[in-house]
Amino acid sequence: MQNTPEPPSSVSPANEHFPLPGRADYATEFARVETLAQEARSQGKEVVVVMGLGFVGAVMAAIVADSRNPDGQPGKFVIGCQRPSSRSFWKIPLLNRGESPVKAEDPEVEVLIHRCVVENRTLTATYNGECLGLADCVVVDVQCDYTKQDLGNMRTGEADMAALEATMRTIGEHIRPSCLVLIETTVAPGTTEFVAWPILKKAFAKRGITSEPVLAHSFERVMPGREYVASIRDFWRVCAGCNDEARARVEKFLREVLNTQDFPLTIMDRPIESETTKIVENSYRAAILAYLNEWSLFAERNGVDLIKVIKAIKMRPTHSNIIFPGPGVGGYCLPKDGGLGYWAYRHILGFEDGDDVFRITPTAIDVNDTRGLHVAELARDALRNMGRYIAGAEILICGASYRQDVGDTRYSGSEIVVRKLAEMGAEMRVHDPYVEHWYELENQDDYPVKGLSWERFFRNQGELSHIRVQTELPKALAGVEALILAVPHAPYLKLSPDDVVNWAGGPIAIVDCFGLLPDEKIRRYFELGCEVKGLGRGHVQRIKEEVRNARPQGSGKN
Ligand SMILES: NC(=O)c1ccc[n+]([C@@H]2O[C@H](COP(=O)([O-])OP(=O)(O)OC[C@H]3O[C@@H](n4cnc5c(N)ncnc54)[C@H](O)[C@@H]3O)[C@@H](O)[C@H]2O)c1
Repeated sequence: MQNTPEPPSSVSPANEHFPLPGRADYATEFARVETLAQEARSQGKEVVVVMGLGFVGAVMAAIVADSRNPDGQPGKFVIGCQRPSSRSFWKIPLLNRGESPVKAEDPEVEVLIHRCVVENRTLTATYNGECLGLADCVVVDVQCDYTKQDLGNMRTGEADMAALEATMRTIGEHIRPSCLVLIETTVAPGTTEFVAWPILKKAFAKRGITSEPVLAHSFERVMPGREYVASIRDFWRVCAGCNDEARARVEKFLREVLNTQDFPLTIMDRPIESETTKIVENSYRAAILAYLNEWSLFAERNGVDLIKVIKAIKMRPTHSNIIFPGPGVGGYCLPKDGGLGYWAYRHILGFEDGDDVFRITPTAIDVNDTRGLHVAELARDALRNMGRYIAGAEILICGASYRQDVGDTRYSGSEIVVRKLAEMGAEMRVHDPYVEHWYELENQDDYPVKGLSWERFFRNQGELSHIRVQTELPKALAGVEALILAVPHAPYLKLSPDDVVNWAGGPIAIVDCFGLLPDEKIRRYFELGCEVKGLGRGHVQRIKEEVRNARPQGSGKN
């Protein structure tokens, strides 16, 4: 008997296999979506297509589908359009069952998507880009990455506009001339007017359309976490249009779908101003985080606890947004957005003096990208003080995500910590209550993109693809020689030193990367014979000496 090859499929994070559509499926799929759109239009609804069902697009699509007219009736029918790649196709059947394709800590995400798809039938998903021809408005939520070539030198990186440009070409080929196109993707400043608009104009000219495309920009400020939906719907927006009509249309659309009553809309003159707003606000955040790196080292070397310094400064209302950087600054946006601005200055706007002009933004990103390396030094020093070595040591890192109480691991500082320790020969283990799979490690050969994993900046990384995120802390700690407290997830704040040492089976090295340990816990760890170090926590040395001096002479412990 001859085996017929399995058709190519797309596998969801829950390991469900969905066969990719074949050529013959496209016509049937379009007919399905067209019927739904016509039905919606006959009920007076506008048809909105959201391109890209990722972290932003999936939830934005549901928010638009959940919006109501002033008479309380649903005013929009939304088609989420996602390319049918083996990596992403599964998002479509999942969404069409009323399930969220993005894992979120906000319980409203699942409820909202279920309500729109199953109860109100105002949301569907498709892979067929021809649905663009049905739209009154298209919202673009595809990615625009910034690819770094070197660790700690963002200047050698480049913007990856391929997905966005391909999307704009498809849109230009299909939309009706009067359709509003709204780019929400964070783009290199100038992209809307000088890259996307020309693509649309060219496509219109080819189709014999004489009117100007109606193109606008309004960036997302979504924050992964428990307020996911609110961070899109109930949050201040900025927008701009390429011409007067686009400006008026984008303002009307955003007022219809978002809570602009309580969170006023800012309307800017040109898209480059809206695009620059996004880049500057995230570069500002990256810069104030990076700025504390040098004071963190100062604190460690001079007996100062930077966590207390920051608390004291925060008392001043003018300085209340000062924040401790942890083992790095991850998330999708802060590590890349400044790079998009730096790159655009030269490659879209045509200036050659970018390296003279941009001094703070590149430095900030470089400092943030490499801060995790110092955690490995602290672990090394703590182990040395106990007469042990990194090479061959079993080390547990608690926290894989980039910030507390979320499961988002993109560009997390913890990844750099793990990679550096693995390079130095440690046997790494990982625990995180919010992360099921750490794809940056598990699939490091082709995640986030083939050949672009941070794996390439370190040696000795092969074993990391076998790492599985552990869920039981006592088990994860058994037999370790060092514990890295990388992220202040709520369960880690409650850990008792006695339990940790008990589970580990004896005194270990503890590295506090995010100010998780209050002084009494640091003291207790020392009393239990552990060694403690922490980013920005120079005062641990003082506590150690106090504990030592309090011991009866000749007790033997160091
Ligand atoms: N995730 C965040 O926290 C966040 C916050 C603020 C802003 N943003 C910005 O929002 C944008 C989108 O980010 P994201 O996190 O949703 O990215 P993502 O990678 O999760 O999603 C992008 C989606 O677009 C799809 N796609 C790509 N090309 C396509 C095409 N031609 N047709 C249809 N679908 C296509 C991809 O397959 C993917 O599913 C980015 O510019 C990002 O910087 C993200």
